[in-house]
Amino acid sequence: MTMTAQSMTASPTAELLRDAEQSLMFIVKRPEAVMVRGKGPYLWDTEGKRYLDFIAGWAVTCLGHCPPVLARALAGQAKALINASPALLNEPMIRLAKLLTDHSCLDKVFFANSGAEANEGAVKLARKWGALRKDGAYEVITAWNSFHGRTLAMMSATGKQHWNTLYEPKVPGFTRVPFNDLGAMKKAITPKTCAIMLEPVQGEGGVWVADRAYLRGVRKLCDEHNVLLILDEIQTGVGRLGTLWGYEQYGIEPDIMTLGKGIGGGFPLAALLAKDAVSVFEAGDQGGTFCGQPLAMASGLAVMNEVIGKNIATKAKNRGNYLRRKLKALEGELGLSNVRGKGLLMAVDLPKSNGPDLVTACFKRGLLINAPLPNSVRFMPPLNITAAHVDEMVELFADAVRNTP
Ligand SMILES: Cc1ncc(COP(=O)(O)O)c(C=O)c1O
Repeated sequence: MTMTAQSMTASPTAELLRDAEQSLMFIVKRPEAVMVRGKGPYLWDTEGKRYLDFIAGWAVTCLGHCPPVLARALAGQAKALINASPALLNEPMIRLAKLLTDHSCLDKVFFANSGAEANEGAVKLARKWGALRKDGAYEVITAWNSFHGRTLAMMSATGKQHWNTLYEPKVPGFTRVPFNDLGAMKKAITPKTCAIMLEPVQGEGGVWVADRAYLRGVRKLCDEHNVLLILDEIQTGVGRLGTLWGYEQYGIEPDIMTLGKGIGGGFPLAALLAKDAVSVFEAGDQGGTFCGQPLAMASGLAVMNEVIGKNIATKAKNRGNYLRRKLKALEGELGLSNVRGKGLLMAVDLPKSNGPDLVTACFKRGLLINAPLPNSVRFMPPLNITAAHVDEMVELFADAVRNTP
């Protein structure tokens, strides 16, 4: 690329934005800002503008941006061992697996790099179990409106209507049913069903909470029909819903659970956990170059020790209740409705379908929020935010709602 007279006079930010447009593959329209720094619930861009981050990298930075405990763990591990081999054990890998199994109902862990990869592993494990233990059963039932990731198989599992015709042909073996409809689930089970895969709260779909009777009923159906229950807790796990794992709030146990997002606190890490009885992989069935990578393991260990040791889930529950009260108090004045969610995964319906414009208006005011639906916005801040951060968010949000046509 040659340097033009214009580029020589452009500001560093303008140059970066131009280079981004020229060199990054287009996948989505991003705001015209370049982030350089983060601390706690705040991000700063190249122009020094501060943003209160109630997206948290899509429910990822559960301890806020650059938490010292994570920075220390990464720096320490980087000096000791950055990468060994997926075929060799490393210490943080063993410690993290033990921590996860000690604090959950699951017995075995496989580490992956992304949520989609962990979910792929969950479906592979269920299919292997079906091949060995259920006469070759391979079908997985998922819910409409669900989100399980962007690999080809997880796009087939995901219940997004507008993905139905994208990247055809679909991976076979997935059946989708309406969420929170036990009758539909029962009807969909066939002798070929090996697993049901659900999110306790559908996050990307717009924050729709599974009814207690529904998840308990699905667990019962699984037991009656010899079907595995896979809970995708990639968004809901690690304290997000106000308990360490979402399933705890339903009084049930999954056979398989997947984790991602918050578990690495911002470092790419995901995990597939399973009960002993369904951990049926044989040598060579599953793997990956970076599975159990020491930096990722050190991140997960630091985050999980902090989340468990400081009871961050209860903090998220209390702060979520506070956020709920603040939003409810504004319902009448701003025309908001249907405040919903659990812990610090919350959403509210807007009086108009102007979600994307509202997100832009918030961005201008230095607030990051997300609109999963045209008429809803979602809040998924770090789990350790203070009441003052909630107050600051609500003030910026209310001002944006009042002034966005
Ligand atoms: C419930 C759920 N499952 C899976 C995924 C996919 O995770 P990843 O983007 O890390 O592949 C997401 C991401 O938003 C999610 O919310």
